[in-house]
Amino acid sequence: MEIRENVPIASLTTMRLGGNARYVISVKTPGEIAQAYDFARKRGLATWMMGGGANTIGHDEGFAGVIILNEIKGIFVKQGDGLVAVEDADRKKLGDEIILTGMGGESWDDFVRMACDLGYSGIEALSMIPGTLGAAPVQNIGAYGQDISQVIVSAEAYDTQTEQVITIEKNEMRLSYRRSRFNYGEDKGRFVIFAVTVKLTKGELQRPFYNSLERYVEKYHETNFSPNNIRRMICEIRRDKLPDPKDVASAGSFFKNVFVDKTGADEAETKGIPIWRNADGGGKINSGWLIEQCGLKGKELFGFRVSDKAALVLINESAKSYHDLDRARQTIIDTVKEKFGYTLNQEPVEIPILTEEK
Ligand code: EPU
Repeated sequence: MEIRENVPIASLTTMRLGGNARYVISVKTPGEIAQAYDFARKRGLATWMMGGGANTIGHDEGFAGVIILNEIKGIFVKQGDGLVAVEDADRKKLGDEIILTGMGGESWDDFVRMACDLGYSGIEALSMIPGTLGAAPVQNIGAYGQDISQVIVSAEAYDTQTEQVITIEKNEMRLSYRRSRFNYGEDKGRFVIFAVTVKLTKGELQRPFYNSLERYVEKYHETNFSPNNIRRMICEIRRDKLPDPKDVASAGSFFKNVFVDKTGADEAETKGIPIWRNADGGGKINSGWLIEQCGLKGKELFGFRVSDKAALVLINESAKSYHDLDRARQTIIDTVKEKFGYTLNQEPVEIPILTEEK
């Protein structure tokens, strides 16, 4: 395993903020995860597990512990009783369903590309989401009507409490909107996911599609809904709306959408706020819409810019400090609260402040 010292968190995260991490360890095999935790334990240091840093914010004070980066690679398909590296699999023998297992350090989008290339449906609408496969179940990534909870079977994880490797089944993950047992509640931060298994189906995404995908299909008279073709459409929609973290510093959606019960939904409707209803009468309010209505879309705030294409995205143009982020965030939260009465919640997670003196 590779150990580096005093590495800026800004260089590890797509929002490009944050002071130094005391140690950064890159793990390339499941066995190295236990070694990395041993390293931290022997020195009495805290740990923080990270994938691609696409949904993580660092503090100016840095992290006086060990950041562990998951760089474990490989994608396998179940054939007979065993797992075969996907590039060696006999494609003709794959059936109507496949069980695909990827190691946590794989790029999420490479995993999606592979699934689409094999011709299986289930994650094609999740194309081009930044980050790693291991991080995908943590916040139950979702977009354009799909989320990983619809296809995930299980995950392999290192349990930092018992120091054992375990399999966690889907029904033990408590997956909901941007939430899971891995990022919420008493087990938050306890498990290091090093492999994820999904079940995908031969076939196509079914209409009606998510609204922006449906609009695209109608505009361009698309008729082929194969996984690869849906992937192409999603990539175009995303390229048009969402900044690519390779070119622009951001953490994707910076705020979560707002969910309300039936009373809240009725109330929103009377105020003219667009609402996406569930079967139970409750619904989702797009935080991007709220921010836009406040006149903040495209605005510059303390070195950040509210994206002029998608108001949920906060772009770091020139800010160097978490303090600036704090001020930009507070301005948006306060403005939306004052105009509409909703309190926006942040989507990306934050590496806790941990200084040497502590
Ligand atoms: N809207 C506006 N103004 C905006 C943005 C959105 O009015 O600036 C309204 C529009 O009515 C639009 C609706 O919000 O039709 C929905 O917008 P969009 O489809 O772009 O989705 P979103 O709710 O802004 C969520 C996810 C994204 C995901 C998209 C597509 C969250 C926090 N974000 O955004 O995920 O890609 O849906 O499914 O749920 C991420 O988590 O980092 C992320 C990018």
